[in-house]
Amino acid sequence: MSVSFTHTKHHAKWSDKQTEALAKLAKEFTLSTAQLEHLTSAFLDQMQSGLAGDHKSSDLAMIPTFVAGRPDGHERGSYLALDLGGTNLRVCLITLKGNHELESHSRAFKVSDHLQEAHISELMDFIAISIKEFITSEHISSKIVEHPSGSDTLELGFTFSFPVTQTAIDAGMLLRWTKGFSCPGAVGNDIVQLLQEALNRNEVNVHVAALVNDTVGTLLAHSYKHPNTFIGAIFGTGTNGAYVEATRSIKTMSHPTAKEMIVNIEWGNFDKDKRVLPVTPFDNKLDRESINPGVHVFEKMISGMYLGEITRNILLHLIDHRLLFDGTSSQKLNTHWAFETKFMSQIESDTSATLIPIAQILEQELGIYLNTQVDREIVKAVCQMVGKRAARLSAMATAAVVRRGLSVEGHFAGHGYPLKLSEGDHVFGARTGVHKNETATEGVHERTDSAVDHGGNLQQINVGIDGSVFEHYPHFKERMFEGLTELLGPRAKELVALGIATDGSGVGAALAALIATKHCR
Ligand code: BGC
Repeated sequence: MSVSFTHTKHHAKWSDKQTEALAKLAKEFTLSTAQLEHLTSAFLDQMQSGLAGDHKSSDLAMIPTFVAGRPDGHERGSYLALDLGGTNLRVCLITLKGNHELESHSRAFKVSDHLQEAHISELMDFIAISIKEFITSEHISSKIVEHPSGSDTLELGFTFSFPVTQTAIDAGMLLRWTKGFSCPGAVGNDIVQLLQEALNRNEVNVHVAALVNDTVGTLLAHSYKHPNTFIGAIFGTGTNGAYVEATRSIKTMSHPTAKEMIVNIEWGNFDKDKRVLPVTPFDNKLDRESINPGVHVFEKMISGMYLGEITRNILLHLIDHRLLFDGTSSQKLNTHWAFETKFMSQIESDTSATLIPIAQILEQELGIYLNTQVDREIVKAVCQMVGKRAARLSAMATAAVVRRGLSVEGHFAGHGYPLKLSEGDHVFGARTGVHKNETATEGVHERTDSAVDHGGNLQQINVGIDGSVFEHYPHFKERMFEGLTELLGPRAKELVALGIATDGSGVGAALAALIATKHCR
């Protein structure tokens, strides 16, 4: 019997029980267009309540970032940038050259498992010392980096990829840790102040000018190259999105002066109470065993930190039912978090008939020495289900933000637009004819460019994306576009451009420092 399952044609003979079990799993993991539609409206409702500050009915923090301008690629200057969001800390020197060009130079420092759980002052001291090392080894001085006139203090932008409620571009309180971090002493405290104190303690002559989330950094960085950028998103170890909102819609801000502001959605926490998300027992198991149960449930269905663990949970379930590896697991496969998302990427990339490369991963990485072709086909089918669901959920969140921007309350269009584009609607290429009405300031411009040109035609919306899952997971982008097409209409590809924002976090931090120093000093 040859069973056609998800994307793969199976060459080996599956038992009826195996076919049945996989079909049941596929049912749980497949998201229909109707389900995606339903999730999109729930997401839009939560965006609206979050903007109104109604956090009883919304799990989306919708954080105003105090970044009111977006770069247009003409900005110049050199800034120090810091990027902390996972197991690597990066210190960078970013030189913005104008004309959409920049140079970046960086060094990575490993954040050990110990530091991810240590008291925040220990982590901040480590960061301060890493900055000092970078400045010394690269001979960086106020001759190179922007600094307040008459001083030799260097300006730094900090991309901190965790949920922070901001009170200014250079002040923000940590709401909660995510992605495996749990340093005590940080939640409820101002991250900029904690870093500035550590810099002072360690005699590092640097001023933290701006704090941004990685999604905000990514939006800024992409905007430097592609002006019509309205959304920044991360699909990596964690997931999240930021977008340009009309400040009149941000009810949590009392006296906004700018017309638009970037809002950090913190979409990883969408529907944390699992009211609409189609969570499976495998997701629930993962959530329960994570260090932050009950929060960031959406992130746990999408991002690189978790996809491998969901897959591991499913494989163990199949083993326990004697439908895989003849009912035998290995010590490695029995170990929490041992199945990495990168294995899924490798497994999904194997298009050979016999799937021998998958056998190598099973043997070398997971200690599963006895595996048949059927086993390998099943493992691949499981990865496909989990990977495809992640991409479709990512498309759902992206489509919701696009819809919000194009709707009556939204900012991209300024007035209502059809939520699904049909054949007759015009979409113009993104990089030409952006409709701008700029108020020139010294640095970044406050802009009111919209997704609609003078003739009322929709312009293509650029989404700047960073993250290993988007960049490296096979078919992720195509699967996202399938979902986007279902939600935004057959011309989704013309309406939305998904582009990789190279080093969004580093470049974005530098741009945020530029915005802060040019506007606030
Ligand atoms: C954090 C976000 C961050 C995202 C991507 C999530 O866990 O809450 O602030 O943007 O990861 O790094």
